[in-house]
Amino acid sequence: MKFLLVAGARPNFMKIAPVLEAFRRYRDAHEVRLVHTGQHYDAKMSDDFFRDLGIPEPDVNLGVGSASHAEQTARVMVAFERVCLREMPDWVVVVGDVNSTMACAITAKKLGIRVAHVEAGLRSRDMSMPEEINRLCTDAVSDLLFTTDEMANENLRREGVPEEKICFVGNTMIDSLLKHIERARWLPLPEGLTPGGFAVLTLHRPANVDRPEVLAGILGAVSVVAESMPVAFPVHPRTARDLPQDVHRNLRLMQPLGYLRFLGLVANSRMVMTDSGGIQEETTVLGIPCLTFRPNTERPITCEIGTNIVVGNEPGRIREAALAVLRDGAGKGRIPEKWDGHAAERIVEVLLNGHPVSG
Ligand code: UD1
Repeated sequence: MKFLLVAGARPNFMKIAPVLEAFRRYRDAHEVRLVHTGQHYDAKMSDDFFRDLGIPEPDVNLGVGSASHAEQTARVMVAFERVCLREMPDWVVVVGDVNSTMACAITAKKLGIRVAHVEAGLRSRDMSMPEEINRLCTDAVSDLLFTTDEMANENLRREGVPEEKICFVGNTMIDSLLKHIERARWLPLPEGLTPGGFAVLTLHRPANVDRPEVLAGILGAVSVVAESMPVAFPVHPRTARDLPQDVHRNLRLMQPLGYLRFLGLVANSRMVMTDSGGIQEETTVLGIPCLTFRPNTERPITCEIGTNIVVGNEPGRIREAALAVLRDGAGKGRIPEKWDGHAAERIVEVLLNGHPVSG
């Protein structure tokens, strides 16, 4: 059989790497090609992740770059259609919820190619998030829906997805984390930071960073943490555009970090503040308190049994929650079922040999 594996943006790379790796031992019998859409293209957003995760050069790079949602999605579709027509794969495998995920899923399905979605069934129920639209569209056209937890299975069942399409395999992003954590943990920290003596901040959601007054409000609120410890703040290119000049002196602004340096940073931190999706899951596995600056999450399991607290982006609420974590920590979380480092092996097993018993 022939498989096209798709990755486009930073949070895709750690999800696709273990799937590629799990396919490796079948490479004499099956063809596997990696397609990079080029949605993210800077070395710090893409190449550094390929290097850190040991992902080989993509077989195809669509080079779509940045644009409005419609234009970016359209560019991926046009370019990916040509690749599909040339390669005629049996399966297209997409991961996560970025524009590239949805664009490639729809394109493949319209050509009659089967689609598998890794990280299916997550729902924030917030249609103002482009990722929620991407998740719904991708799941609607996928033939196999690989899920990370029982809540995702439930979401899909409620939407009428037949049981035989749903396959609870665990979390490939956690496969990458477990593979690399020991190496990452011992990498040098950015200057001035000591293990357990600093916090981490990441922000890139349009709702938090596209309006300067909202971004300034969040950074002002984070000062309550910066008063007592340095706050490492790797700045996403989207966030860099409107960053205020006068931030707290203990807020340590830095370029985006590669996969290993960032994982090491989080693993050594006392707390994390973020609006990312994936970091909510990584902190749950690492047992690090996480405050999520969003009104909701598509990953409620990280709050229910993990170390995540959803606090929104209102400065007063952020201050209150941050002070509580500084005082009490976030309690002891548990690691969700099947987040055990073997999700990608299960996925490849299903793709090659058919559906196992559900659950
Ligand atoms: C995208 C994903 C988001 C994911 C995030 C992780 C969608 C809808 N959004 O958001 O789900 O959490 O990636 O980073 O797919 N830019 C660069 N260099 C790059 C890439 C982007 O400078 O390599 C800048 C450009 O100015 C671009 C902006 O960042 O316009 C936003 O990039 P884009 O890919 O459109 O969305 P993200 O905000 O990164």
